Amino acid sequence: MSGNRITEIVVHPLEKGLVGSVPVPSDKSIGHRALLFSSLCDGVSNIRGFSYGEDNVSTANAMRAMGAVVEDTAPGELRVTGTGLMGLKAPKDALDCGNSGTTMRLLTGVLAGQPFTSKLIGDASLTRRPMMRVVGPLRARGAVIDGAPHPTKQGEILPPLVVGPLPEGKELGSLEYESKVSSAQVKSAILLSGLYAHGTTWFKEPTLSRDHTERMLHALGVPLRTVGTMIELDPAGWDGKMPGFDIEIPGDASAAAFLLVAAQIYPGSRVTVRGVGTNPTRTGLLEIAKHMGAGLEIVPQGEQGGEPIAEITGWYEPLRGRTISGEVVPRAIDEIPIACALAARASGTTTIRDAEELRVKESDRIATMAGVLRAFGVTCEELPDGLVIEGKEGPLQPARIESKGDHRIAMTAAILALGASGPSTIVDCDCIATSFPRFVGTLRALGARIDART
Ligand code: S3P
Repeated sequence: MSGNRITEIVVHPLEKGLVGSVPVPSDKSIGHRALLFSSLCDGVSNIRGFSYGEDNVSTANAMRAMGAVVEDTAPGELRVTGTGLMGLKAPKDALDCGNSGTTMRLLTGVLAGQPFTSKLIGDASLTRRPMMRVVGPLRARGAVIDGAPHPTKQGEILPPLVVGPLPEGKELGSLEYESKVSSAQVKSAILLSGLYAHGTTWFKEPTLSRDHTERMLHALGVPLRTVGTMIELDPAGWDGKMPGFDIEIPGDASAAAFLLVAAQIYPGSRVTVRGVGTNPTRTGLLEIAKHMGAGLEIVPQGEQGGEPIAEITGWYEPLRGRTISGEVVPRAIDEIPIACALAARASGTTTIRDAEELRVKESDRIATMAGVLRAFGVTCEELPDGLVIEGKEGPLQPARIESKGDHRIAMTAAILALGASGPSTIVDCDCIATSFPRFVGTLRALGARIDART
């Protein structure tokens, strides 16, 4: 989709603080769900504020390949004519999930209940990500799924995945599953398979992960009950129909995090982002930043798309190192890389624990962030489940950073580079378009000087 992909950026040191009020792309997680659920609805849905982030585009293309009609009606607006829950068609080709773990894992839940075969493929990063976390429980309810064996971890499987068909006359059965990880992708895949199951789905996770799936399914009339981290979906008595819906997707808290932290670590900055989703399962970074002493104001703006939204302003205040662990970690899981930037500019030590999930994201984010921090001259130690980071006074060391194809690493490195004593180069930047296509332009609008090469 992007003709001019930015592959390398040179970030110049900030001369004065970042200042302004800017939009952020719409929420990637909610975008995936809006596309997926509208495709399974009976009737027409309208999605406003679509971000064109490449991960969301992967989901749109997969649903098109199975018969949903996804049309661009205006910039940022999509009209989706769903197939109905039972109306998906066998895709002609493999479904390419690109870089998007959410696309692959959520689709696996939907495809598990289909009478046809499908193949799910992804890019090099996605092809290294573990899939047994969804395949295991789906197989336990009767799904037929195969994948590539993991080269070193016995029992783990990797993409490509081949899903289905269910043997003739067979349906998915009931499932009672307690997940060891707090993961919205696992939870969502299981709930989606539950829409096709004969019997109840019961799911529990250690602490609450993002709950966009539950919110949306509930709004669509799916019989779902939640108590704390427990969910029960009992389709008995449900007619299996979801009506078309209209949604305006809230701004992405995970994208906003880069801009807010940039303001919070550079003196003289003040940045406002509007219409940002503040679902409590996503606000861990804001709590971490506040706890470290950051300048932060959150002004609620009501609800949008069944989610709370707010105008959020970040500004510089002296930061203190803290311990980041426990239930806040799943609620900040995608923001831990940028939380490392807060730690790098704080006084004292920040210890991040309970974040082993970072090892299996778009890159091994514990190892990659340790490398990035050291390249900028920040002292840090890798732990199996986190990092210990010593805040550094004065300018950082200019660096040349390889993002490892990980958008959140590339963006964190760009924010750190603003505080270096000379220009820094971030290579392998095209991945930024998976979640924040206008990242460079937005930083420039706030006063950053960045040269981009395509
Ligand atoms: C997501 C869930 C999280 C998150 C990812 C998006 C989702 O992954 O890291 O970026 O939209 O469900 P896990 O479920 O693996 O924690």
